[in-house]
Amino acid sequence: MLKGKNIVVGVTGGVAAYKACDIVSRLKKLGAEINVIMTHSATEFVQPQTFQALTQNPVTIDMFETPRYWEIEHISLAQKADVLLVAPATANIIGKVANGIADDMLSTTIMASTAKVVFAPAMNTKMYQNVIVQENIKKLKALGYSFINPDSGRLACGDIGEGKLCEVEKIIDTVLAIALPKQDLQDKNLLVTAGPTVETIDPVRFITNHSSGKMGYAIAEAAQSRGAKVTLISGPTNLHPPKGVDVISTTSALNMYDAVMGHYQQQDIIIKSAAVADYRPENPSDIKVKKQDGTLSINFVRNPDILMELGTKKTNQILVGFAAETNNLMEYATGKLVKKNLDLIVANDVTENGAGFGADTNIVHLIDRQGNQTKIEKASKLEIAHKILDKILQLK
Ligand code: PMT
Repeated sequence: MLKGKNIVVGVTGGVAAYKACDIVSRLKKLGAEINVIMTHSATEFVQPQTFQALTQNPVTIDMFETPRYWEIEHISLAQKADVLLVAPATANIIGKVANGIADDMLSTTIMASTAKVVFAPAMNTKMYQNVIVQENIKKLKALGYSFINPDSGRLACGDIGEGKLCEVEKIIDTVLAIALPKQDLQDKNLLVTAGPTVETIDPVRFITNHSSGKMGYAIAEAAQSRGAKVTLISGPTNLHPPKGVDVISTTSALNMYDAVMGHYQQQDIIIKSAAVADYRPENPSDIKVKKQDGTLSINFVRNPDILMELGTKKTNQILVGFAAETNNLMEYATGKLVKKNLDLIVANDVTENGAGFGADTNIVHLIDRQGNQTKIEKASKLEIAHKILDKILQLK
């Protein structure tokens, strides 16, 4: 299954390093060519000979050991990797990569690689929840690095909480999905909108919403990896767009409307995950509004409903909307599905923990025109994105 694929597995120093033996063994059985890079700390937990026997390849630890062949090793491993998996990933390796430190074989190889890098963190709960570690993870995610969230449970140190290396099956599934992406959207044009809109009040003030763009960018990444030609129309976000995707940056709802209307005709699939302002200030001021005694009133006028208009204009396109609700989720989402003439609606209750605005995960219900409902339990936005695409491909 993984024949011809090169996987570099980075093993760092944590108790879970022993689980890397199982991971490496399973990937090898699937036919992958595997090279293991261990940090010095990892060798305190597992002997390099174990990985050497499992992979039938030498294990790399030191930057300056005598080369086995004439090549610069961290560069050659970085270049040949189809996937670079770090499991277990300590706070130390995550911190190094997030801050551009390349001072050993593993961090140098990661830095020199253009392959998809996946971290499977494992560490003490307090360490995992430490704001610096979380900021480093956030930064790396925004830069396109993937993370497989740790599980909760009893940790080696005796604490109970999140920080346990996730199930080995989940790691293998993630590697498989990256190394062998389905190509079931080949030749399809897919447009996705993401992020918030920004409505000007005056040159220094605006109104917007809490959308980070993560959901829409995840859809763009998933669709691109499955072979689609993706156009991402994005409001202002701090995210780096996935490689290979055409990006159109927008600000206001009117701006997004123009961009969508200019591109919808050539699409096979349109997914509107952007959080578009329903109203904008009627008369934005050209100069800064000065404060005065008393209250300030701003008149708002309606923005066009981009999705609704697409529903009236669409020909052969599959049209997918989102519904962000705080109450009566299924009723309101179904209402939007019908009113906006959609093929599918993705309903998310944005008050749920781990769902909606800004979160790395989401919890959604998919509702199609026949009224079929599927709940997708809490999962990363990338996993949710793949499930939405799976459902779109099954629509009749
Ligand atoms: O960006 P993240 O931080 O990852 O958060 C993800 C999300 C919560 C923004 C996303 O999952 C989501 O729910 N997006 C839809 C947000 C929204 O505007 O929902 P709505 O129920 O108000 O709108 C319904 C649909 O109509 C949406 O597809 C929206 O894009 C569209 N719409 C709304 C108003 C408008 N004027 N034009 C539109 O096209």
